[in-house]
Amino acid sequence: MIRIGFLACADTLPGDGPRRGDAFEHDLEVAALRPAFENAGLELHEIDWRAPLEDFDGIALILLGTAWDYQDHPDAFLAKLEALAARGIQVCNPPEVVRWNVDKRYLKELEKNGATSVPTLWRTDIDRAGIEAAMEHFDTDRVVVKRQVGAGGLGQYSFSRDDLPDEGWSMGRACMVQPFLPSIVDEGEYTFVFVDGAFSHGVLKRAGEGEYRIQSLYGGYECDYAPDPQDLARAEAVVAALPFADLLYCRIDMARLPSGDLAVMEAEAIEPYLYPQQGPGLGQRLAQAIAARLADRAVAAAPSPSTRAALRQP
Ligand SMILES: Nc1ncnc2c1ncn2[C@@H]1O[C@H](COP(=O)(O)OP(=O)(O)O)[C@@H](O)[C@H]1O
Ligand SMILES: [Mg+2]
Repeated sequence: MIRIGFLACADTLPGDGPRRGDAFEHDLEVAALRPAFENAGLELHEIDWRAPLEDFDGIALILLGTAWDYQDHPDAFLAKLEALAARGIQVCNPPEVVRWNVDKRYLKELEKNGATSVPTLWRTDIDRAGIEAAMEHFDTDRVVVKRQVGAGGLGQYSFSRDDLPDEGWSMGRACMVQPFLPSIVDEGEYTFVFVDGAFSHGVLKRAGEGEYRIQSLYGGYECDYAPDPQDLARAEAVVAALPFADLLYCRIDMARLPSGDLAVMEAEAIEPYLYPQQGPGLGQRLAQAIAARLADRAVAAAPSPSTRAALRQP
């Protein structure tokens, strides 16, 4: 059996301690991947990303899994991934992809490369006057303000003209402002899971009553979704716009613009939840892709016939 690491964090790992409200997603993903991996000769091993390096000995490849608390420690997380890669472990997705994907300014690059995106103002910080100016700019009554480095809806605000932030409020960090898209509430957010560049499955994520954030932590729930060719083409255009060609996995989250087109909300290549319940073939697809990568690396590492011949010379 070849050992595959599934990175997690203290709050998502099963055990005695308290777990995050969405730790059940960790369990669902591990339960879906483990048997499929076993069939392919791969043993899935859950491990805290903060575990000492020696604990990773014997692991051939790691998935970034549910390391869902890296946002406030991106440098330490990246340093750990680089240290693991330096020990010869294949890191999926690799540290350079993580570095690129940590900061949502990557959305600008995707747009430049042909993806449809949500109109966004990028700010080093923003206050109440800035929020009002953004509403003017977008000619809208409601905006969403998000951290440029963030995930899971953390530290995110939605303001409207009759519910502005207090005087004296400021975001206090680099942020991005978007017009509020009513489609998120009316129809939901669309997710497209890709394995090795190929579409695996879709998910429609709906917000709970009175919410606009679709994450399970806020009462969001998932529905099956088979995209029509037009919507799938929009998601595929995002994958084609990525500056990396060979990602083991990525998740493209999209929302519908008032024009009717799907626009990219996020391209998640770090530790996206991959919605195994909506994609029964996910475990097998990932296992096959991983086995192929390990085989490629074994071939690359093996000495060529000429080297072997040279080594045999006295
Ligand atoms: N412009 C927007 N209009 C309406 N809802 C939004 C908008 N941007 C984000 N949201 C909601 O907030 C959630 C979190 O935002 P997102 O950009 O996905 O950041 P992250 O998941 O990294 O925290 C989305 O899933 C969606 O439900
Ligand atoms: Mg999101």
